[in-house]
Amino acid sequence: MELIKDIDRMRTYIERIEEGKIIGFVPTMGGLHKGHLSLIRKGRGDSDVLVVSIFVNPAQFGPEEDFESYPQDLERDVKLCKQEDVDVVFAPSREEMYPDDYFTFVEVEGYLTSTLEGDSRPGHFRGVTTILTKLFNIVSPDRSYFGEKDYQQVLVVKKLVNELNLDTQIIVLPIVRENDGLALSSRNSYFDEKEREAATILYKSLKKAKEWTIGGEKDPARIIHKMKELIEKEPLAEIDYIAIVGPNSMEKVQSIEGEVLIILAVKIGKVRLIDNMRVKRSMCQS
Ligand code: PAF
Repeated sequence: MELIKDIDRMRTYIERIEEGKIIGFVPTMGGLHKGHLSLIRKGRGDSDVLVVSIFVNPAQFGPEEDFESYPQDLERDVKLCKQEDVDVVFAPSREEMYPDDYFTFVEVEGYLTSTLEGDSRPGHFRGVTTILTKLFNIVSPDRSYFGEKDYQQVLVVKKLVNELNLDTQIIVLPIVRENDGLALSSRNSYFDEKEREAATILYKSLKKAKEWTIGGEKDPARIIHKMKELIEKEPLAEIDYIAIVGPNSMEKVQSIEGEVLIILAVKIGKVRLIDNMRVKRSMCQS
């Protein structure tokens, strides 16, 4: 496995790959966990050459967010990638990706990037779409792998790729959860024991919301209200948002018909977590 830190070397590596070979790409910010490993394993199985990028992207963090403390352990991540038979880890420096005189950003405009995560984290998606455009240009992947935990990100990335005619197929894999339901996230490593326990409230509330829907509740406002009541019982939890939306539009639904996405962001202590669950009414309703 190669560890490449500069863009020119990465490009040369890609240029030397034989015509017709499939390049798979898993973009990450490091802090690799079982969620990333599921993407890497799928990518490994699908591709001739598998590239994993590790870059904590400053452009997608707000000024009050955890950029400085974001979990980073390149040695550990590289070791994991080696074990998974990754061909290349691309881990550029900040200066390599954003030199001092850097001024070019790529933005998906409109509702999709201004609602929910976009509303709570202004500029976040602009940072994501900028870095991904750069990475896609450097790596030229045939297929790129993303996890459904960052559900809204997936929709934004698909729109970016579609509207800029970027030549990579976006493959989306389901959320990987701990045994107690907590969705895997690099940020889970921040938790002490009490917070870790409290963090299960996101999954518990989603599971309850699914049950209420199966039980016949069609009114999103009532489900959201009950989820709030449940989460507010957890003293370490502070709700940012809870929404029930169309799974492709992210627009709030008036009544639960067909498939919806229940999505939430909750702070546990200082750590902000997101999670989501798709619920299909036809499936639950008959
Ligand atoms: O999902 C992430 O880890 C990041 O947003 C990504 C896609 C690697 C871009 O920095």
